[in-house]
Amino acid sequence: DGTKAAELFSRGYSFTYDDVIFHPHYIDFPTDAVSLSTQLSRNIRLSIPCVASPMDTVSEAHMAASMAALGGIAIVHSNCTPSQQASIIRAAKSLRVPIVPSVSFVSPTDGLPDSYGRYVFITESGGLPSKLLGYLSSSDCDNLRNKAVKIIDYKRDCKAVEYVPWNYDLGQIEGILEEKKCDFVALERDGEVVNVVTKADVERLKGYPKLGPGTVGADGEWMVGAAIGTRESDKERLEHLVKAGANVIVLDSSQGNSIYQIEMIKFIKKTYPHLDVIGGNVVTMAQAQNLIQAGVDGLRVGMGSGSICTTQEVCAVGRGQATAVYKVSSIAAQHGVPVIADGGISNSGHIVKALALGASTVMMGSFLAGSTEAPGAYEYKNGQRVKKYRGMGSLEAMTKGSDQRYLGDTAKLKIAQGVVGAVADKGSVLKFIPYTMQAVKQGFQDLGATSLPSAHELLRSGTLRLEVRTGAAQAEGGIHGLVSYEKKSF
Ligand code: XMP
Repeated sequence: DGTKAAELFSRGYSFTYDDVIFHPHYIDFPTDAVSLSTQLSRNIRLSIPCVASPMDTVSEAHMAASMAALGGIAIVHSNCTPSQQASIIRAAKSLRVPIVPSVSFVSPTDGLPDSYGRYVFITESGGLPSKLLGYLSSSDCDNLRNKAVKIIDYKRDCKAVEYVPWNYDLGQIEGILEEKKCDFVALERDGEVVNVVTKADVERLKGYPKLGPGTVGADGEWMVGAAIGTRESDKERLEHLVKAGANVIVLDSSQGNSIYQIEMIKFIKKTYPHLDVIGGNVVTMAQAQNLIQAGVDGLRVGMGSGSICTTQEVCAVGRGQATAVYKVSSIAAQHGVPVIADGGISNSGHIVKALALGASTVMMGSFLAGSTEAPGAYEYKNGQRVKKYRGMGSLEAMTKGSDQRYLGDTAKLKIAQGVVGAVADKGSVLKFIPYTMQAVKQGFQDLGATSLPSAHELLRSGTLRLEVRTGAAQAEGGIHGLVSYEKKSF
């Protein structure tokens, strides 16, 4: 009954996640017995198989700290200068309690922001980390509204501010807030404020599912990944990133099987032998084989599967993501190289499929964009609260420098391989990722797999069976036949 993966994926079709469905197997363990711990790369272990994509609308400091606190990891994008990318990594590592501040920050020369929370903080740089110069409460700001004044002249003094060390945990912060009867504390590292946490933030975080175990390096700090390209100048960028404490490097290319990438892999392995390097993107066994031979510690799989991608349309190359993940994983497994299934994840079922087909982690863009932790401000579109999400191959992103991912930097004419869009507000990753992982565990239980290695073994041995879903079967597998409904997953 059903088809073995090896047979299904040798028929010459390019299948994606929605095309295939697993047969349920046998359950003899509870959901909580499922472990999702996994390898990101040869030497980096994660407690959940989630990776935030190196995109400038997804992975900066707050996403990186939050993903690490959850037990996953983020790869900080390189669509900025090397020193900016290094600062993002340092900032992420300093956010021990991964709270996105609910207060606003301005520089001494700025006016009042259009909207503000309970406080507006004036810092040297107008953001964090920085030196704190003073602050105003929301009622101070209300009084100054529409007045042509310099807010720095009306700031409250910092003497009353309670400073605590950056590495205090939530319990310690809560203790100080209670003991000192204050509404917020400023977390400080090396003379700079790295975050401001209010009483309300602490209450919010306490209401989320339990975090971790987090992804922590040998130095006790969050592990953070970083993307680079394959230009000569990326060697210099790499030096900045290594100094900032980057724990793993992702060579960010839409077509990774190139002489440029192979040379870069060899250079990094020679220069920084203890630094894991993830190569890609690849979708075929031959591409994977080349990068494995060059010495990669992990492979990133996907071409044109991303929600904002137009590579398959523009360049006529790529592969359905289910087929790509299965094919690359089967060769990578023979060499002990973990695979990241990159792109095309829009629900927990896609994560189950990617992992059961051989991936060790999933990399997500749109699934995480729109969260509290994603860069950028919320705006309203047609009455819906949204955040911008753009492809790194979109013209808008390439103008800022991401064109070398698409090997377009030397070309005279830039051709877009991605689009700019917006995704709905999803709330905090600290809340929806734990719920998503619980759903993935339930999927694993239905498959009769207690862990990723056990799912991989069930697939390899042919015990796990799949089928292709017809269009009608796919429609039947979704919500259908209702006049209206409300979709709430947790
Ligand atoms: P999702 O589906 O999670 O996909 O939003 C994220 C992945 O998409 C890739 N990516 C792109 N691919 N043009 C492309 O063809 C683009 O502009 C683009 N931007 C990102 C990337 O692999 C990412 O992780």
